[in-house]
Amino acid sequence: MSKSPILAGVVGWPVTYSLSPVIHSTWAHRADINGYYIPVAIPPTEDEFRQVINGLRRVGFAGINVTKPHKENALRMADGASEIAKKAGAANMLTFHEDHIYADNSDVIGFANAVKDQSNNPGNHGLVLGAGGAARGIILALQSLGLKKITITNRTREKAEALADEFTLDVVDWDRRNISLDTADILVNTTSLGMTGQPPLEIDLSTLKPKSIVADIVYSPLETPLLKAASGHHTIDGLSMLMHQAVPGFKQWFGGTAIVDEALKQTLLTEIKRRETA
Ligand code: ATR
Repeated sequence: MSKSPILAGVVGWPVTYSLSPVIHSTWAHRADINGYYIPVAIPPTEDEFRQVINGLRRVGFAGINVTKPHKENALRMADGASEIAKKAGAANMLTFHEDHIYADNSDVIGFANAVKDQSNNPGNHGLVLGAGGAARGIILALQSLGLKKITITNRTREKAEALADEFTLDVVDWDRRNISLDTADILVNTTSLGMTGQPPLEIDLSTLKPKSIVADIVYSPLETPLLKAASGHHTIDGLSMLMHQAVPGFKQWFGGTAIVDEALKQTLLTEIKRRETA
């Protein structure tokens, strides 16, 4: 009798925009694995999240990735969690074991590996724009890369100060964000500014050192106004982080090799174009 296919997926609200199914299908196809990775929309309440997750577990899913707005719900629902997920306060991976659910956070290693693609020595000083959920993962990634000093700036200063207390960071006023740029080795935008439908991020990159890295974690649009302004610097776009964060889930659930390469990126770019014209 042939074995039944491995099932995994991504849950969020909305979830139709997710490119994760394309990433996992590409890797499954490359490794000749009999498996499906399915997007599942779960309305934004913790109750519905728990019900659907229990259902997916019952029908035999190996695990799921979790995206907005359920990453905190995922961590709360799990029976156990990695240290990094606990520190991030959010989980983007749930693995269903026979008698327990385990939560992990691969956004952190995903961003760290996206940085390593650009440089093995990202320097000492990171400047993080924004203090929401995404900023927490980025801060942990920068700390894991060995950056000695991380500065955070946010429109609402109190939120930056709360993160600074928790992760030992420096804080600068949002209005003074340009001033801290001259010593930054890596600049990361985690705010929603620059996303499709949002105002652009206003920042003057003229004092940024030529070798500094500029990163934006969104992929809609792929080339945000910030990344456009950073031409000439090493840049990291949202697709790079997305591809790298998918690796641990694929390995865990499908059990195959997952390689982030130019061919995968081209597949995603083709899919983005197809959706734009569909
Ligand atoms: P995520 O989980 O993606 O981090 P979030 O928690 O809603 O999303 O955080 C959004 C971030 O974008 C916050 O840092 C937010 O700043 P505030 O804390 O002041 O709200 C930032 N942001 C959103 N709109 C902004 C704007 N118009 N100007 C400056 N920052 C903005």
